[in-house]
Amino acid sequence: MANGLDDVVAAETVLSDIDGESGQLVLRGHGLDELAGRTRYAEALALLLDGLLEGLPAAAELGPALGRARAEVYLRLRGQVDSLADQPLFDGVRAMMATLPDGHGLQSALSLIAAPAVLVPALLRRRGGGNPVAPAPELDHAADILRMLDGAEPEPVRAAALDRYLVTVIDHGLNASTFAARVVASTGAGLTSAVLAALGALKGPLHGGAPGPVLEMLDAIGEAGKAEAWIAAELAAGRRLPGFGHRVYRVRDPRADALNAAIEQLRDAGAAAGGRLALAASVERAALAALARHKPDRPLLTNVEFYTALLLEALGFPRDGFTAVFAMGRCAGWIGHSREQALHGRLLRPRSRYIGPRPQQAA
Ligand code: ACO
Repeated sequence: MANGLDDVVAAETVLSDIDGESGQLVLRGHGLDELAGRTRYAEALALLLDGLLEGLPAAAELGPALGRARAEVYLRLRGQVDSLADQPLFDGVRAMMATLPDGHGLQSALSLIAAPAVLVPALLRRRGGGNPVAPAPELDHAADILRMLDGAEPEPVRAAALDRYLVTVIDHGLNASTFAARVVASTGAGLTSAVLAALGALKGPLHGGAPGPVLEMLDAIGEAGKAEAWIAAELAAGRRLPGFGHRVYRVRDPRADALNAAIEQLRDAGAAAGGRLALAASVERAALAALARHKPDRPLLTNVEFYTALLLEALGFPRDGFTAVFAMGRCAGWIGHSREQALHGRLLRPRSRYIGPRPQQAA
């Protein structure tokens, strides 16, 4: 038995590939560095989902189609925002997404991709005592998300940073949430069911729930000079450092650098606090040195969540919203894998090894 299914191949995919030894992420034939910061999210969607959804528009038309989907989702779900605004944000988003039709086609896919983009800003504004802002379908996806959040069109550097984030996390091999989506899709259930399973898996702190705790760690450390001692105490107590380590990567997660580039652009434009970033850089250095001493045989390096935390904080998302923002980008990957499983896979049905007692044989 492979505990944790390490290295078990459970699906074939054309969507993405991770080389954990060289730190390469390939998305439909393109390296992450070719796409992040160069390709709009809607274009990345067109690339990722090509051939998997009947009627998928070409890249140039997918942005407007996604805009229309944002408007439709807002009209459909706006009435639920008030009653869910007191729930934890992720749970509120998940509850509303559960009410979307459980289809298999393009319309379901676009609604599910649009939903977190519309619902996170709506719930956050409601929670802050304001009114949700309706989507502007003609705007670029990332720019509209920030507009719905802030109530004003964002500076281009902020929209570009969020766009780069959404592209960077769009898909990532057979991670826990994607596997959950594929299991559900393999039964013939619709895309909403598959995405809900994925959302449940994403929520956990070992997967998409880590970026909030990254900021808690930075707050607890407070100043660079205290990083080493704080980290040593955490490791001595047997706790894990959020934002470090990965099941597949044995080198630095390439997504960390893709996101760091956006953070540096924000800092240079005066849109990210330099002090916070300097503290984060010191904490990262201290953590990497401490983890190398702590587990000399197991490379534990910076993962995507460390820079996700810094980027989303600079963009003005509250830390309890980070996992739902991750879902805004990753929903596309879940849908791509679900469609691939439905089109080309079989029912996923592994076996367990029974280690409990057997009934007594009659003498
Ligand atoms: N800090 C301290 N120790 C760690 C860390 C860490 N961040 N990560 C792993 N280790 C230790 C483990 O305690 C374990 O030690 P042990 O053998 O003495 O028990 C050893 O390294 C090997 O760890 P595994 O549990 O085998 O690693 P696994 O592949 O299961 O875990 C994971 C990967 C979950 C990402 C892990 O590194 C972790 O918990 N990191 C912190 C949480 C985090 O950042 N999650 C986000 C991941 S990125 C994403 O999913 C979007």
